Amino acid sequence: MASDTDEIRGAKLLIGDTWREASEGPAFSSVNPADEKVLASIAHASPADVDAAVEAATQALRSKEWGQMKPSARGRLLTRIGDLILSNREELARLDCLDAGKPYTSVFHGDVPAAADAFHYFAGLPTTILGETYPSDGTHLAYTLREPVGVVAAIIPWNFPLLMAAWKIAPALATGNTVVLKPAEQTSLSALRLAELCLEAGVPAGALNVVTGLGHTTGAALVRHPGIQMVAFTGSTSVGYEIQRVAAEHFAQVTLELGGKSPHLIFADADLEAATSAAAQGIFFNCGEVCTAGSRLLVQESVYDQVVERLVESTSKLVPSNPLDPDCRLGPLISNEHLERVVQCIEQGQSEGAELLIGGDRPAGEGFFLNPTIFGRVDNNSSIAREEIFGPVLCVIPFVDEADALAIANDTWSGLAAGVWTRDIQRAHRMVRNLQAGTVWVNTYNAFNAMVPYGGIKRSGLGRELSGHAVEHYTQLKSVWFGL
Ligand code: NAI
Ligand code: MG
Repeated sequence: MASDTDEIRGAKLLIGDTWREASEGPAFSSVNPADEKVLASIAHASPADVDAAVEAATQALRSKEWGQMKPSARGRLLTRIGDLILSNREELARLDCLDAGKPYTSVFHGDVPAAADAFHYFAGLPTTILGETYPSDGTHLAYTLREPVGVVAAIIPWNFPLLMAAWKIAPALATGNTVVLKPAEQTSLSALRLAELCLEAGVPAGALNVVTGLGHTTGAALVRHPGIQMVAFTGSTSVGYEIQRVAAEHFAQVTLELGGKSPHLIFADADLEAATSAAAQGIFFNCGEVCTAGSRLLVQESVYDQVVERLVESTSKLVPSNPLDPDCRLGPLISNEHLERVVQCIEQGQSEGAELLIGGDRPAGEGFFLNPTIFGRVDNNSSIAREEIFGPVLCVIPFVDEADALAIANDTWSGLAAGVWTRDIQRAHRMVRNLQAGTVWVNTYNAFNAMVPYGGIKRSGLGRELSGHAVEHYTQLKSVWFGL
């Protein structure tokens, strides 16, 4: 596969149905993390551009084309977007591969079909959004209407660029809202291509707008804009906190999908081969740049040595390589800044006395690559076990029994996901009840589907994405009373 990037154009903003340059200021560059070369120049939307995008989104809410579109027509529109994603599968996979350094094969087989699936799933929703009629004493009739919230600001991260755009746009449009999307500054290209496909599918002017830019400029201008009624955010816990604080100033609703330090538990009675392979996948998939990464592997003491030996053995065969290579399973990290931060975490782990079992160093050559890294017998109170590293760095922690496992697993600020491997069904059910997490996987890890709700507790977030429950966030109830 050629790696030249001639076909990648300089990007513009989508406001209403027109592609525009940013109104002021210099553009910024998007870099290919695998070769450190500039891929494209990205428009930096100013506060005035954000105003224009919010205005276009506000107008579209009231427009005949969008505001009065039949629910079934909205469903067909979403189906067409999903179909267009699939028919442009290679191009979209290539964009995320080059822009984010994600392995082409995993984007092609994972992110792109999952993005299409989000649109195909939510295509079925518009005709099922119902209000309720209330029991009456004959003097009144009371019922509810479920209405769109309004203009949704969607702010997304760089680890699953196309998929995160789909997870925000599909439910927001299914429920009749309009969207202003701000992609992550590192990875704008697939979101811009998706927006083109949405226009091609027939999304009316203003229903979807895209403002590219940095977080503290464009993102901040969008969140504080009084014309937005909701912020749907995925990213770091610290920015999530800030977004909630700013959105509260004008009473915009928020959904937050934030970070994690997810525990992945292996009991001695588990299928150890399957569990060990899932443990490696759980941390090294997408180079560990996954909010649900199983970054704390808790292993029962009686099988600890056996599991660690298998894990180190399989990890020694996991060599970072060019993400365009169809066999690549581990690409580079997103940026040099991020790589430096991850390396710092590793150094801190070593200085705190954790046992470095493999990795910790970088392969020679260009690109933000890091060798997969495993620390053994980690203290759950040490910094590497507490902070979200967001890289290919695993902490293995031994435990004695079920009570010990639960105490360690739940002793964290995060509550996004947890995994358990055991063949004892009663224990599995006890763990499901007692693990503090929005998602618990039993004898599997990182399973996702647009039909199933997804989100966190504790400092991992607010609200649930995907599934029919997304309707609760993206709509509001209007109560209507008739005197009879
Ligand atoms: P981030 O949270 O800064 O960025 C996510 C999005 O928020 C980007 O689109 C960014 O432009 C935007 N943003 C940043 N500051 C903003 C502000 N003040 N107002 C509005 N929007 C703003 O994440 P970043 O800096 O790229 O990564 C830092 C760490 O965050 C990672 O190392 C990782 O620990 C965590 N992270 C977690 C993700 C998740 O999926 N839960 C995804 C990305 C990062
Ligand atoms: Mg990039």
